[in-house]
Amino acid sequence: MSKKILIVGSGGREHALAWKLAQSSQIEKLYVAPGNAGIAEVAECVDIAVTDIDQMVSFAKNKQIDLAIVGPEIPLMEGIVDRFNNEGLKIFGPTAAAARLEGSKVFSKNLFNKYNIPTASYEVFDDIDKAREFARSFVTSDKSVVIKADGLAAGKGVIIANTVNEADEAIDIIMKDKSFGEAGNEVVIEEFLTGEEVSVFVVTDGKDFVYLTSAQDHKRVFDNDEGPNTGGMGAYTSPPIYTEEIHKRTINEVIIPTIDAMEKEGNPYMGVLYAGLIITSEGPKVLEFNARFGDPEAQVIMPMIKGDILPLFEVAVDGKLKDYQIDSENGVCICVVLASGGYPGEYEKGKIIKGIDNIKPDNIVFHAGTAVENGDFITNGGRVLAVVSKGNTTLEAIENVYEEVEKIYFEGMHYRKDIGKKAVR
Ligand code: AMP
Ligand code: GLY
Repeated sequence: MSKKILIVGSGGREHALAWKLAQSSQIEKLYVAPGNAGIAEVAECVDIAVTDIDQMVSFAKNKQIDLAIVGPEIPLMEGIVDRFNNEGLKIFGPTAAAARLEGSKVFSKNLFNKYNIPTASYEVFDDIDKAREFARSFVTSDKSVVIKADGLAAGKGVIIANTVNEADEAIDIIMKDKSFGEAGNEVVIEEFLTGEEVSVFVVTDGKDFVYLTSAQDHKRVFDNDEGPNTGGMGAYTSPPIYTEEIHKRTINEVIIPTIDAMEKEGNPYMGVLYAGLIITSEGPKVLEFNARFGDPEAQVIMPMIKGDILPLFEVAVDGKLKDYQIDSENGVCICVVLASGGYPGEYEKGKIIKGIDNIKPDNIVFHAGTAVENGDFITNGGRVLAVVSKGNTTLEAIENVYEEVEKIYFEGMHYRKDIGKKAVR
């Protein structure tokens, strides 16, 4: 009961991390920067933006933080881990060079190629005309094509095209209009793969790893995977598509080769490795890697980990994960995201949230975008809350979560009614 821990971030993922760490008997003080209104119930929120690395470093030094844990990708890409390391401060997450696994699609695709990690076949372009020609070669032979900005584009840098016009337009958006800025200096153009998507999470120290769980996100805003992409509208653990066989192949063909490749390339990767997979008829292939926990996947991963999670992060930072094990809860965990009217487009803030107190014990409401006004929780973001429940089966978890979701209300609130449905079809 003596450690001081700092979580960097402010969303539902960071609330889930804070909720889990707040249960650790080793922690004397838990800070979250900047946090949110829900996080403030389990930790002390500190008003530092996630990109203000100078302030994060000074805060960690002043408060003698024993370990910092980074939630979102942006500070990782901007080198928060390198900066903490330079100051002799302990921090869980990859260095900027290693975080390129998420931050640069060109970097990650070239790594997959070099080390035979299964992924969609692709080419890289920095020339608009050549990019167009290559993309057109797919659509003119009746194949869909996927056009990806190299860098981070808030989830909007991946465009699927089915016609010459769509392909040209996608390349223009990324390379000519520079809608995502420098992120569009290069594009990856790749074959379209069909299959169900699964997220797989491991914690690695750069050599060894601990498998946490698999989960399935629901990225589109509306039921049946319709409408525009969002940050994620809900998730559940252990989707049936991720069989024991697929798991073995994923570990052997994707996870181990990637960790080894990063080490061989001189960028050892320490942190959460989140593989975004598509399960094709040929087996699992990598769509992307993320350098962090998923959001909302963290909201279902944290409640499934038994016992204190702090040692897992500490042991990873110290490079001693070999033979380290964690225990998982049985059953399935599910979460449904409650979003503001209009999200993922324009939305209003400041709507009073009602009903959180009516949630039954054993279910959890993680806050993603909330604030407090006159003693009430109000909406303060696109994704507002994540309601989390468990069940012995996916069906039971689904029934449990929707019973709780119906107790919560704010003006304009919308959510998907089919989270987990693919698992029980
Ligand atoms: P990414 O950021 O690369 O994971 O892409 C975002 C989303 O676009 C993925 O979750 C998939 O739904 C879709 N996607 C990306 N690449 C492909 C591909 N090669 N084939 C089919 N869908 C893809
Ligand atoms: N839920 C998708 C992500 O965190 O990237």
